[in-house]
Amino acid sequence: MSALLDIRDVSVAYGKVEAVRSVSLTINDGEIVTIIGANGAGKTTLLNAAMGILPLKGSVVFAGPEIAKLDIEDRVAAGLALVPEHRELFASMTVEENLQLGAFRAPKETAASFERVYELFPKLKERQWQLAGTLSGGEQQMLAMGRALMGRPRLLMLDEPSLGLAPRIVADIFKIIGDLKAAGVAVLLVEQNAKAALEIADRAYVMELGEFVLDGQASAIATDPRVVASYLGFGADAKTT
Ligand SMILES: Nc1ncnc2c1ncn2[C@@H]1O[C@H](COP(=O)(O)OP(=O)(O)O)[C@@H](O)[C@H]1O
Ligand SMILES: [Mg+2]
Repeated sequence: MSALLDIRDVSVAYGKVEAVRSVSLTINDGEIVTIIGANGAGKTTLLNAAMGILPLKGSVVFAGPEIAKLDIEDRVAAGLALVPEHRELFASMTVEENLQLGAFRAPKETAASFERVYELFPKLKERQWQLAGTLSGGEQQMLAMGRALMGRPRLLMLDEPSLGLAPRIVADIFKIIGDLKAAGVAVLLVEQNAKAALEIADRAYVMELGEFVLDGQASAIATDPRVVASYLGFGADAKTT
């Protein structure tokens, strides 16, 4: 079986500075894969390049064909979605209107998509007429994820979904990520909250200075002495936040 997403030997540069160097990553249908790494490691750069927001060198195969040269719209149409770190909601539009904007990829299924998103995020249903700008941080993250899911992606890429959220809300968000997997959506999760990410993921990659330095089953990565020392152990917070 071939991977759903197969990133092969990908490099991404800002001008002359290479922020991502020769990384390779696969994710299979229905899998949760996490990339952990300190601030500045290159995680956001890699997700943005996979989505087509930044140009890259190398190969990206998704759901069959090579997509490295496609524009963002065509990647969305192929079933790829990214929830960016800054969520990028329309603050002066309602929850419902923000969700509607995500439905363009699958317009015929809009009613069913609303039902599915409101089932995953009952809070969004309660607040469907509220302006997005007035939601709490956790609700805004849910709305950003919900909007991406309105397009029925096969792979959802999440950039730091727990950033700036209270621990109780982080637990809610991670529970929903688990629900997505159960619903058959593959998830590529970028997180500085390595502990929570490794608990939920099937496999993990550790990124340092633009390169993957370690990868494997999430349970094995979580007990690797280097990971424990740098990302999980006592004092790790100083490095990862
Ligand atoms: N727009 C940009 N222009 C130039 N350098 C950038 C830009 N965005 C990020 N970088 C640099 O690229 C590296 C990786 O950044 P980033 O992908 O945001 O890391 P992470 O998401 O892991 O925190 C960092 O050294 C950062 O300073
Ligand atoms: Mg980032």
